[in-house]
Formats: sequence, C-alpha cells, structure tokens
Amino acid sequence: MHSSKTILVTGGAGYIGTHTVVALQKAGYTVIILDNLVHGHRDLVEGVLKTELLVGDTGDRPLLDHLFATRKIDAVMHFAGFAYVGESMFYPRKYYRNNVVATLTLLEAMVDAGIKQFVFSSTCATYGYPQSGVTVLNETHPQQPINPYGRTKLMIEQVLADFAIAYGFRSVIFRYFNASGAHPSGQLGEDHHPETHLIPLILMTALGKRDKISIYGNDYPTPDGTCIRDYIHVCDLAEAHVLGLSYLLSGEPGAVFNLGNGNGFSVQSVIETARRVTQREIHAEVCHRRPGDPPLLVGSSDKARHVLGWCPQYSDLTTILSHAWRWHQYRHG
Ligand SMILES: NC(=O)c1ccc[n+]([C@@H]2O[C@H](COP(=O)([O-])OP(=O)(O)OC[C@H]3O[C@@H](n4cnc5c(N)ncnc54)[C@H](O)[C@@H]3O)[C@@H](O)[C@H]2O)c1
Repeated sequence: MHSSKTILVTGGAGYIGTHTVVALQKAGYTVIILDNLVHGHRDLVEGVLKTELLVGDTGDRPLLDHLFATRKIDAVMHFAGFAYVGESMFYPRKYYRNNVVATLTLLEAMVDAGIKQFVFSSTCATYGYPQSGVTVLNETHPQQPINPYGRTKLMIEQVLADFAIAYGFRSVIFRYFNASGAHPSGQLGEDHHPETHLIPLILMTALGKRDKISIYGNDYPTPDGTCIRDYIHVCDLAEAHVLGLSYLLSGEPGAVFNLGNGNGFSVQSVIETARRVTQREIHAEVCHRRPGDPPLLVGSSDKARHVLGWCPQYSDLTTILSHAWRWHQYRHG
C-alpha cells in the first residue's frame, strides 16, 4: 500500500483515466483528478470513483502553481489530451495547443515545483507505418508519425528526453495500442463524443443506435482481407500504469513501454465476435479503404512484461467485447 503518496491524474475523468484511478485507489494511492471536462464525465468521477475532482485545464499555469504549492503531489499521470486522429488532420492547431503547449505548461510547473516523476500517455501513432517486413512493433521501431496527433505525442516524448538530461526529470512513457473493453463491474467504460473507435461503434450498432458498421476495405493482404489491429483491455492498461508508477517511485530511471495485446484481431473477426457476444444483428457494410490505414498494426509488449512484471488478465477478444457490451447496455441500453 502507498497511502502516503498522492498522484495527480490529469484527464482522470476520461476513458483510460477513470479506469486507472480505480486501479490506483485499489493500490492505496490518494488521487486528485485534474480534468477540464471537455470530454470527461463528472458523473463517473462523482458516482463511481468518488475521487477529488479539480475542474481545470493543464494549460492553466496559475492553477497548477497554486495546486503544487498547496498540495504535496508525488507524481503526475498525464492522460489529458485530444486523441482523434482524423480531427487532428483538419484542426492541427487545436492538437498542438492542447497536446503540446498545455502539456509543456504542466511540465514547466512541475519542474519549478520540484515534482519530477511523470507517467505519459503516448501512442502507437508515433510509429507511423510499420517498416517493411515488420509484423509486430517493439519500442525500437522508428517513429515517423503520419498525422498531427501522432506528432504531438512524439514531440512530448522528445521534450521528456531533454527534461531528463537537463532537470533530472524521470518519466515512464506508455505507447498504447487500441484501448478497449470496460471495467468488469459494468459501471465504467468508453463514452466518447463523437465516437470513432471500432468496438463502441459496433456495440452501438448492436443496440440499434446506429444503422450499420462500416468496414473500410476487405482487400488487404490479411487472411480475411480486413485490417488487423491490436486491442488492449483498458483494465490491463490501468494495471500497467500502477506498475509503471511504482517503478518510478522506487527510483528507477525513465523508460518507454509499448502497451498492446500482442495479438492482432481483424475488423471482420471483431464484428463476428460481437455478434456472438451480443446475440444481436449487426449490419456491416464494406466501403473503400481509408487513406493511411496500414493492413497490420500490432505491438509487442514484451518489455513491459519483463521489466514491470506486467501480466495482462483480459487479452482475449470475447472477454474484451463482453465487458464492453455490459457497459454499453448499462450506459446506452
Ligand atoms: N483511447 C485510446 O485507444 C488511446 C490510444 C493511445 C493513446 N491514448 C491517449 O491516452 C490518453 C487518454 O485517452 P482516452 O481515450 O482516455 O481519452 P478521453 O478523451 O476519454 O480522456 C481524456 C481526458 O482529458 C481531458 N482533457 C483534455 N484536455 C485537457 C486539458 N487541457 N486539461 C484538462 N483536461 C483535459 C478530457 O476532458 C478527458 O476527460 C490521451 O492522451 C490519448 O491521446 C489513447
């Protein structure tokens, strides 16, 4: 137990943040959430997490200075950010402002307050296209993002490397693949507006809230012709954050870890599994490929397993979909 340690969780009212707060509380940490509620859910924080919520922006320097001067914060977990790849192509300034400028403001305030332990939500989007012949990406794969969203996250990774050298800042950087699933209780899960992720879109179709699910291309060089992606259960992600934090707090230097399933699932197989789990009709329609979608995007998380002792509990697709379905019925049914 770590009852004496207080962790500031930015973006703690969002999808991955809420699940991680539950895991942190279970591990004995005291949590303060900082979230501007642009995409976060006050009802989940107040009703399920019952955690202290500070409604504010990570780019608000006076707010941060006041917070760090009045509360003893041991480390910061930074989930706050915007994460829509498509939107980042049309409104890059919004992404650079929030994901880079606001994050830099947070990092500067931390350095000035002497808080130097940081857990950062990065993304597999920092890799860009897998290099030819690479089927499973590990952390040494070159980072050549192909959209502004991925570039904003890579920029902060670079800032963190420089802060480590200059200020003794120590960070754990997690590059997530596709977060998915929901808390087994059914009381927490994914609720994005707009929703762009495959599994919630499929389940909203199962609930009759959408007419159909679009399959963007079925002529890829994969066994069933649809794209293969890596889906990692959000509770497994949350546990990795608790391990990453304790790694930092034990004085280890910073490190970068992929967090993925290790197994890829095709779009077609996700839809078929959803039909089986929900026992509902799910109408799917094949459309043209989307530009920029590689056929296969799967990550290796061997480093997190070996270094952090991370042991994912919910890697199979049926479990991921069952938990997500329980949540969707509770939230939207
Ligand atoms: N969901 C995924 O599959 C995935 C994959 C890779 C990386 N990530 C990264 O993980 C993080 C969390 O993702 P998520 O899916 O939980 O997103 P989310 O939108 O559900 O949560 C982000 C939270 O941050 C808050 N927020 C945004 N900007 C803020 C600011 N300037 N100040 C304070 N609060 C702010 C939002 O209100 C929201 O509650 C993001 O940084 C995202 O880029 C997510």
